[in-house]
Amino acid sequence: MIPMTPGESSDPRLFLKTMLLEMKGVQRYDIGFPGATDLAFPELAEILTGQLLNNVGDPEDPGLGRNHTKPLEREVVAAVADILHAPEERWGYVTTGSTESVLHALHDARRRYPDSVLYTSAAAHYSVAKGAHLVGLPLVVVPTHSSGSMDIAGFRRALAPRRGRPATVVATAGTTMTEAVDDVPGIVAVCDDLGVVRRRIHVDAALSGVPLALLPEGERPAFDFSTGVTSMAVSGHKFLGTLMPCGVLVYAGPSGAGVLTRIPYTGSVDSTITGSRSGHAPLILWWVLSTLGAEGLRRRARASRRLARYTHGQIQALGWPTRINPHAFTVTLAEPPTAVLAKWVLARDGRTAHVVCMPGMCRDQIDEFVSDLKRALSVSSALSPHLRAI
Ligand SMILES: Cc1ncc(COP(=O)(O)O)c(C=O)c1O
Repeated sequence: MIPMTPGESSDPRLFLKTMLLEMKGVQRYDIGFPGATDLAFPELAEILTGQLLNNVGDPEDPGLGRNHTKPLEREVVAAVADILHAPEERWGYVTTGSTESVLHALHDARRRYPDSVLYTSAAAHYSVAKGAHLVGLPLVVVPTHSSGSMDIAGFRRALAPRRGRPATVVATAGTTMTEAVDDVPGIVAVCDDLGVVRRRIHVDAALSGVPLALLPEGERPAFDFSTGVTSMAVSGHKFLGTLMPCGVLVYAGPSGAGVLTRIPYTGSVDSTITGSRSGHAPLILWWVLSTLGAEGLRRRARASRRLARYTHGQIQALGWPTRINPHAFTVTLAEPPTAVLAKWVLARDGRTAHVVCMPGMCRDQIDEFVSDLKRALSVSSALSPHLRAI
């Protein structure tokens, strides 16, 4: 219970110190979720903890208030849009994360095409089904290949009988469980081939958007705006390491993808999902992008991929089923025995689990994890036949 009278209970400062110590103590075992932990922001302490910042409404519209970071937010949107090869005419904003970005894209699609049908793969993030329910779009789930990427022939089979209706597609670049990248040019080609011109294509690139887009030409999978998609989003707390949940949503095209009412009370256009929005999140994103630059981001991505390949090799050497997709930070493995799951925080789906080698993780953690896995396997022959290939 929160003590409302000073001295009634333990000192909140002491409580905070203990909580932080506990969190730091267990961070080593947190290898299953894609949050980078290599960055800290002491230079921003004063503004983060001592200044109200509210970017209410549209980022391109200052509104009445002065305590906002909209100029920095516009720089962040422009930088991410450039990385993702967006056209010159673009619009976007800093969201609370890729979930809100999906919701905005689906809301936009529903407003433009009220009779649209939504298509996404079985490996898409759960926010897509939730967003479909919230905005009232009928959802068709397309099967995936074993890698986790959308089966394009399956997409064609799903789209063909509904070709008379507009299509909204949420493709994924870096699926949650296996970090697979959907064949976005394949999706566009099927729409073209079936004459579905009334369409919106959102690419959910929560984890992988920035690292994939920074790969050299020729190595980079075709998934970004150059393929002709409508919108894309990345999370800020994943690869960009903002520590607080946030995201960047970018549209190809002019401003005003959402509701375009000017609100007299705030003096700005209501084009975003929430009204009040964090001004601190754009500030951290701006700091990360300006201090690391493209080369700093590339360096972190290369180190993560190296660690992921090492992890995959070490697990493979134990004879335990594992896979890794091209360019991925994510190593998928058959779900380990319970002794391992009790110590290590791994994302899992009941059959497989994964380790995500984010910036901030080191080889030493992987070695300890692999040695725990080895020990657990030596005392149990836990591998059921259906897991032999994952
Ligand atoms: C592919 C994908 N999309 C969306 C999300 C949700 O992102 P956020 O946590 O930024 O809302 C995730 C989170 O893991 C994800 O993996």
